[in-house]
Amino acid sequence: MALSIHAMQTGFAGEVSGIDITRPISRDDVAAIEAGMDRHAVLVFRDQRLTDAQQIAFTLNFGELEHTRGNAIARPEELRLDPAFADVSNLDRDHRPLPRDNRRRLYALGNRLWHSDSSFRAVPATYSLLSGRIVVDAGGDTEFADMRAAYDALDDATKVEIEDLVCEHSLMFSREQLGFTEFTDEERAAMRPVRQRLVRTHPVTGRKSLFIAAHIGSIDGWPVPEARAFIRDLMEHATQPRFVYAHKWRQWDLVMWDNRQVVHRVRRFDDTKPRDVRRTTVGGTEMTVAQAA
Ligand SMILES: [Fe+2]
Repeated sequence: MALSIHAMQTGFAGEVSGIDITRPISRDDVAAIEAGMDRHAVLVFRDQRLTDAQQIAFTLNFGELEHTRGNAIARPEELRLDPAFADVSNLDRDHRPLPRDNRRRLYALGNRLWHSDSSFRAVPATYSLLSGRIVVDAGGDTEFADMRAAYDALDDATKVEIEDLVCEHSLMFSREQLGFTEFTDEERAAMRPVRQRLVRTHPVTGRKSLFIAAHIGSIDGWPVPEARAFIRDLMEHATQPRFVYAHKWRQWDLVMWDNRQVVHRVRRFDDTKPRDVRRTTVGGTEMTVAQAA
């Protein structure tokens, strides 16, 4: 059976069928998936019983793995998974749900705010690939908002105003919004803000998109409160239901998205139940704007 990609019934995402990604795939299939990503920005593969090694192998078809250093506040000895993975589960290294007041859990709640993975890195990520190993029955949807459509829908004056704006992104800014402000000096150093263009142009399709995230703390040349209020307005505009696809997880779904074209967030769920979702990330190849010295 040949690979095919169909638009999902609601939203802009595509569903891929006719491929087993637990096995090596052909160059043609890689090209078809990349073309599907350029078009849909989010692709869903059902019933893919991936091991960690298979997920890494599949990811490497699309570029280099992004390292996970500076992603999280976990110490190396607390890691449950190989450092090739971003562990976005709610589990400790014995695979038990983290207690309610656990510091890593509270930090990870930042994923409930709209964001683009790794926009806080000087070279931000391209694709994220999230495998649903254990999913919850209720809640826990991952929602995606299409930043191309959101950009297109802006009025012309706003498009002109934002064209060359540069924002500062840091994991500290998104955590601050939730009242999580206690960081060690070492964590602060690892989370030093980076600069990103607010408007990006996709290298293949040439489409413009809004590059916004809860990680934004300021806009170059703007007073901070004005910048944050404006980013809030943009985010509100960009995440209207008409731009959103909500993914309801089934076990063994693999969802792949382009961080250059969408933002995402996870919705609330019963955190006393295990939710084991494992992310690999394809690193980007260039900065959106030069960094401050
Ligand atoms: Fe994320």
